[in-house]
Amino acid sequence: MKKQSILEAKYEAQKLAFAPYYFQVVVTLRKTGILTFIHSKKKGVSIQEIVDKFKITEYGVRTLLEAAESAGIVDYIDENNVVITKVGYLVNFDQMTGVNINFMNDVCYDGAKHLTQSIQNDKPEGLKELGNWDTIYEGLSQLPDQIKKSWFEFDHFYSDDAFPYALPIVFEDNPNCIFDIGGNTGKWSFACCEYNPNVKMKIFDLPGQINVAKANAEEKGYLDRIDFYPIDLLDATQKIPKGADVVWMSQFLDCFSETEIITILKNVHQAIDSETPVYILETFVDNQKFEAAKYSLTATSLYFTTMANGNSKMYRLTHMRKIVDAAGFDIVIEYPLIGNSYHTILKCVKRK
Ligand SMILES: C[S@@+](CC[C@H](N)C(=O)[O-])C[C@H]1O[C@@H](n2cnc3c(N)ncnc32)[C@H](O)[C@@H]1O
Repeated sequence: MKKQSILEAKYEAQKLAFAPYYFQVVVTLRKTGILTFIHSKKKGVSIQEIVDKFKITEYGVRTLLEAAESAGIVDYIDENNVVITKVGYLVNFDQMTGVNINFMNDVCYDGAKHLTQSIQNDKPEGLKELGNWDTIYEGLSQLPDQIKKSWFEFDHFYSDDAFPYALPIVFEDNPNCIFDIGGNTGKWSFACCEYNPNVKMKIFDLPGQINVAKANAEEKGYLDRIDFYPIDLLDATQKIPKGADVVWMSQFLDCFSETEIITILKNVHQAIDSETPVYILETFVDNQKFEAAKYSLTATSLYFTTMANGNSKMYRLTHMRKIVDAAGFDIVIEYPLIGNSYHTILKCVKRK
């Protein structure tokens, strides 16, 4: 256990007590452009310059910046002048941090208050802040534009990074037809079509997402190479058809509970033969290189609890190995932390 004095611990405890306000300070400083302005003045900027530029009262600017100082976002040079810190730079300019902040603010923030009931009821009780659905996936295509944008930017930011490293792995076996389970807006399928001129794709997802993927495929001219298969994989009576040379599931199984994952994998199991590789791409909390990655993934689990479906999470690799085994698959190769991404690929085959 880390050594910590009671005073240090008390400070950490207050950071948690007031975290929502400090978070909103970050949101406001980003939204108004105040942090961008402070950053543009390398030698620092006066409170009065900020007041004049943003037409905010001196009271407002000082209140925000005092909180920003406490949060480590700006430093005071003297009573009237501030400079941006490294943390301030990152919350304003780092793409990943920005994607996380927007996701948290637009998608999760209002619902976060329902965490206790969500845990108690095993349901995403925060989701009612966004709409009247059992899971967020049912409502994804109907979310208000800003919320939808933040959800997709969050989802895509992470998977986009992994796809270039995943393509050579998946195409090692030169598949003719790939099933893209939980294919969402079609990004992976489009990446496959671009990577290999002959491959055919079949996207499986809920009807709302299939409509979006189809529209995107039409725009890209891929309708002749991509098939679409609306399906609710929580309904075990809806069977995945045969015909896959490779089955691909990217950032998909984390959307389900352990029991649901086993049901879905068994559905895949009945559709393939023992030669067909199944690739699972996931971000596992227990094999990350950076503390920041583990911290972010653990927080993402709380999004699943309160907003998404109430019963899924970012899994540990050790846990996923057991789930895959229970569904009747062997992991034949693990590709840990591919490229510069946070993702691991598990290549699985049906146990003989
Ligand atoms: C987190 S997204 C991952 C999207 C994409 N594969 C990627 O890597 O970015 C999960 C996808 O699973 C789909 N999904 C969730 N529940 C589903 C269900 N019951 N049946 C079929 N698809 C489902 C969602 O609609 C969504 O497109």
